[in-house]
Amino acid sequence: MEKMRVGIILGGMSSEKEVSLNSGRNVYDNLDRERYEGIPVFMDVEGALWILPWQLVSQNTTVDIEEHLCKEAKRISYEGLKDEIDFAFISLHGKYGDDGCIQGLLELLRIPYTGPGVLASALGMDKHIQQKILKASGIGVPESTIIQEGEWRETRDDTERKLINSFDFPFVTKPTREGSSTGVTIVKDPGFLDRAIAEALKWDTTVLVEEYLDGTEFSCIILEEDGEPLPLALTEIHPQSEFYTYDDKYMPGRCRKFTPPKNIPADVVEHIKEEAARAFKALGFRSYGRIDGFFLKDGRVLITDPNSSSGMAPSSFFFEQAACAGMLPSMVISRLIEISLKIHREKKGPL
Ligand SMILES: Nc1ncnc2c1ncn2[C@@H]1O[C@H](COP(=O)(O)OP(=O)(O)O)[C@@H](O)[C@H]1O
Ligand SMILES: [Mg+2]
Repeated sequence: MEKMRVGIILGGMSSEKEVSLNSGRNVYDNLDRERYEGIPVFMDVEGALWILPWQLVSQNTTVDIEEHLCKEAKRISYEGLKDEIDFAFISLHGKYGDDGCIQGLLELLRIPYTGPGVLASALGMDKHIQQKILKASGIGVPESTIIQEGEWRETRDDTERKLINSFDFPFVTKPTREGSSTGVTIVKDPGFLDRAIAEALKWDTTVLVEEYLDGTEFSCIILEEDGEPLPLALTEIHPQSEFYTYDDKYMPGRCRKFTPPKNIPADVVEHIKEEAARAFKALGFRSYGRIDGFFLKDGRVLITDPNSSSGMAPSSFFFEQAACAGMLPSMVISRLIEISLKIHREKKGPL
C-alpha cells in the first residue's frame, strides 16, 4: 500500500517563522515512517512554496534555508501542491500561517490539513474578536479596550487620558493579531505608554489594551476525540522575565513549566480544563488547539490566549502534555493526522 504523503508546511511570512521551522522539523523527525511519507514544504518570505530535500530541514534559520532554495529545493506553484502531498500538517505560525490564509488555499486545493477551518483559524489570531465571543459564552476574559492606529495618531492626548482613567497601572498593550509575545509590553507608568503603543503598532493597525493579570499563567492543549474537545493536561508556567517573553518561550532552560501543575489546586485544574474546552468549542476550533490563561490571585480563571495551533518543538506544551497522557511524539502526531482526516471527510465547506 502506498504511504500517505504528509506535507509539513514550515517557515512562512510571519514574525514567527523561526519558531515554525523548529516546530516543523520536529514534526518531520517524529513522523511515523511506517505509516506516512514526510515531505517538508517550505514557505519563503514571499509566500512561495518549495519542496525541501531532507538535508535542508536541519538548517539553523529560515534565512540559511533560503540561501539554498534555488539550487537544492524544488519550487512548486500553489496549484502544484496537490500533486506533491495528500495531507498538510500546518507547522506555520502567525500571519498567513494559522490565521485562515493557508487554510483557504488548502480548501481550494481540497487538501485536508491540521487545525480548524478558515473562520476559526482567523478567530484564533484575533485577540479582540475572540474576547467578544468568549465573553458572550460566559467565559472569563481580561478587561480590555482597542485603539485604532488612526485614532492614536489624531487624538493621542484624549486617547491617553481615556486609557489612564480606565486602567490602573500596570496595564498591558499588544498587537491585536500577533503571537510569540511579539509587541507585548507591560506599561508601568504614563511615561511608557507612547513607546508601548508604537511597539504594538509596528505589527498591527490596532492595539489591544488589557488590565494587568496578577496570578499564575497556564496552558492547556486540547485534542479532539469523537468531535468533543478533550484537554490533554495542564501546564503551569513560571517565566523568568517579568512576563512570558519570546526568550522565555523558546530559549532552552529559560522557563520553569510544571505538567501537571504544582501550585494550582486540583479542583481549579479541573475547572480550568472545563473552561479551556468551552473556549475551544465557542471559537469553533477543530482537531487540536492550545488554550492559555491565568489563575488569578483573587481566584478567578481567565482565558487570555486561545490558539488554533500550537508550537511543536521538543519541549513544547504539546509534546509535554502528550507525554503526560502517555503518548510519544510520533503517537500524538499520528493521532492528530487521523482526527484531522476524519474532520475533513465529514465537513461541508471551508469554514
Ligand atoms: N493582561 C495580561 N496581564 C499579564 N500578563 C500578560 C497579559 N497579557 C499578556 N501577558 C503576558 O504576555 C505574554 C504574551 O501575551 P499573549 O496575549 O499570550 O500573546 P501571544 O499571542 O503573543 O502569546 C503572556 O504569555 C503573558 O505572560
Ligand atoms: Mg500567548
